[in-house]
Amino acid sequence: MTANSIETKDKILINGLKPLNGQVRISGAKNAVLKQIAASILIPHPVILKDVPALQDVYRMIDILHALGAKCEFDEKQEILKINCSTLSSSYAPFELVSKLRASFVILGPILARCGNAKVSLPGGCQIGTRRIDLHEKGLKSLGAHLEITHGYVEAHVPEGGLVGKELHLDIPSNGATENLMMAAVLAKGLTIIENAAKDPEIEDLANFLNCCGAKITGAGSHRIEIEGVTLNDLHSCEYTTLPDRIEAGTFIIAVLATGGKAIIDNVIPKHLTALLSKLEEMGAVITPIGDKSLEISSNGRLKATEISTVWYPGFPTDLQPQMMALLTKTDGVSILKENIYEDRFSHVEELVRMGADIQVNNHIAILKGVDKLTGAPVTGSDLRATAGLIIAGLAADGISEVRGLNHLDRGYNSFADKLSSLGADIKRIND
Ligand code: EPZ
Repeated sequence: MTANSIETKDKILINGLKPLNGQVRISGAKNAVLKQIAASILIPHPVILKDVPALQDVYRMIDILHALGAKCEFDEKQEILKINCSTLSSSYAPFELVSKLRASFVILGPILARCGNAKVSLPGGCQIGTRRIDLHEKGLKSLGAHLEITHGYVEAHVPEGGLVGKELHLDIPSNGATENLMMAAVLAKGLTIIENAAKDPEIEDLANFLNCCGAKITGAGSHRIEIEGVTLNDLHSCEYTTLPDRIEAGTFIIAVLATGGKAIIDNVIPKHLTALLSKLEEMGAVITPIGDKSLEISSNGRLKATEISTVWYPGFPTDLQPQMMALLTKTDGVSILKENIYEDRFSHVEELVRMGADIQVNNHIAILKGVDKLTGAPVTGSDLRATAGLIIAGLAADGISEVRGLNHLDRGYNSFADKLSSLGADIKRIND
């Protein structure tokens, strides 16, 4: 149990080997909407975000904005979040709130740019790896901020005259650093260039949201982002619909294949999933586009083993590695899965082995010998995607599985068990 998890005693019971069939709609992207909530701090007028999923991480981010003096109204049914940061009254984000989700650290850039100073707790521990913040720190300092890390907090202020645009180069294309720096640069004087920026669709979506509010950002979605600074007076209200969650879509696609089913996944942008889809086709999956934003998924029998290396976007996403591992446990032959982004994202391996998988791990490489069957077992997920991976394994296993760790699942999947149940899974969520 880490500081960023919210305890729940719920567990999911799955009676496996029921093929998933039917149609499911993917929600708005967690990793985009959290940053758009943070970006609202920059905007001294009301903004409206649409397609916002009711996730624990979204509620935690709203709590942080409330603590800063913003007003937020979340209509969960309509998935509409109204944020008003005209009333911002504090630049202090305490440990009790920030430590609940790592993504919250991206409030540092916008608070600093809007208020001229910020005191933000360091985000705290993480199950999957160290998750450093050196690039955030270095970049903000290059823009002219004074930064000190002391007693678990980053204390920062902007010198007289404000932040000044600069050419920045990231050592690695970190998502969080790209986002923090892009948001800080919106109100910096002159031009900021971020070289070796993360290219993920969520970065582009953040830039689109900010541009919709009056920012001047070009190049997001490529390795070079240019931000022409504007003033607070240039920023205005906007209504914005968050892009679909590519990781949720990938999770459902893998789940359909793991059960040998045939289903349509709606509200998906296929080009955001090229690395996954081409790999699955290579393995024998049949993927048929239906219009621009739906995919039909099926397979002709047992899938073939493969080799996968997680890399930065547009490479194979680390956030689909545990789910993919669940699928690979039952493919034909020997698969190799290399985790290159996080040093400790294999916590699901031991649990999969308890379900009958044949997996050997050597440092950051997992070697999987496909088995004929998995057997249901009680298992516990120790991070968000690991829990989703174990649920997929449960769907593909003979007999009953009990999956715990739903505090992690609830951070990032909207009604996961209900959506699976609507596809025909024999699954129920119960309170222990
Ligand atoms: C985002 O995290 C996502 N989270 C993660 O998704 C995702 O795994 C990750 O990007 C990579 O795609 C959100 O968007 C909320 P990074 P972020 O900065 O921004 C190292 C999920 O399951 N690094 O790209 O924190 C760091 O240590 C989550 O939804 C530095 O060395 O990721 C890590 O190994 C989990 N120095 C790697 O880069 C820095 O200053 C990736 O970090 C920053 C990062």
